[in-house]
Amino acid sequence: MSLTSKLSFNVNGKSHDIELDNRTTLLDALREHLHLTGTKKGCDHGQCGACTVIVEGRRINSCLTLALMHDGDKVTTIEGLGQPGNLHPMQAAFVKHDGFQCGYCTPGQICSGVTVLEEIKANIPSHATSDLTDTIQATPAEIRERMSGNICRCGAYSNILDAITEVAGTRV
Ligand code: FES
Ligand code: FES
Repeated sequence: MSLTSKLSFNVNGKSHDIELDNRTTLLDALREHLHLTGTKKGCDHGQCGACTVIVEGRRINSCLTLALMHDGDKVTTIEGLGQPGNLHPMQAAFVKHDGFQCGYCTPGQICSGVTVLEEIKANIPSHATSDLTDTIQATPAEIRERMSGNICRCGAYSNILDAITEVAGTRV
């Protein structure tokens, strides 16, 4: 029985055809095979959010999913959101509001922040949503709840909240 399989997916707008050990996680495929090391490995157990990437418009812990499960998918990592000189608004807001210290959690925080605002825009409720009949606003409570899977050991939470809030266009 073959222990490897061929995989074809699109990462940051570029098509990749690779052959991988069937047990390779999406995180390891990105970091070790495509050399996109912006996505970080923290716990490798789905507990810290450092490995968050965007797959087909939804955030995902890339350490918890096998690369082969994403054959044909469109993946966006921190490298695909923006580049130096042409930052994504969320990246620019993190810089402006000093939303990081060591920076290890930051790629995951930014990928989550981008999708959190999409979720709110789409009126998808969270545990913090009090009125399911009203339009959901990007309040601090909503943002904190939705970002709760992204741990920051440096404790930059208040600045991260400021950055996401600015992009959402809402005052804290
Ligand atoms: Fe994936 Fe921590 S490395 S959640
Ligand atoms: Fe260091 Fe978040 S900035 S862990």
